[in-house]
Amino acid sequence: MNLQQMVLGIIEEKGNTKDKLIEILLEIQSRTEGNYVPKETLKIISESLDIPLSKVYGVATFYSMLSIKGRGKYVIQICNSAPCYISGSSDIVKAFEEVLGIKMGEVTQDGMFSLEYTSCIGACNLAPAVKINDKVYGNLDKNKIIEILDSLRKEGK
Ligand code: FES
Repeated sequence: MNLQQMVLGIIEEKGNTKDKLIEILLEIQSRTEGNYVPKETLKIISESLDIPLSKVYGVATFYSMLSIKGRGKYVIQICNSAPCYISGSSDIVKAFEEVLGIKMGEVTQDGMFSLEYTSCIGACNLAPAVKINDKVYGNLDKNKIIEILDSLRKEGK
């Protein structure tokens, strides 16, 4: 199945209406290796839903749950809003970078993990908070980070 067929199939499944845009983008992302929305799909969506391409692009790049850049199977989002920053999110960033051997914005070579910043994820009581796919983690230190990554590595194989 090529990209166009996949996108048109998803649009047919979800419904060919403007209010389904985010749902469609999320579905494309979940079915794409690299966990992202390929740029080429935006034009197909724009034409099918009759939404200006700039708007589709705007939505695909605005929400932190969506990405138009390849990401890991597990997307690690470290909150850098003020409460988390004050509670030491930069130490958490350093620990993840060290353990994974990549920098923020990068993907591990095995395609398993990617690191990115996010704004507040509503877990300020756990600051510094981190979201990995749909799960929120808090009160982390380097040992806990190693444990979490090990268990995700096993789960993700
Ligand atoms: S500021 Fe980080 S979760 Fe709210």
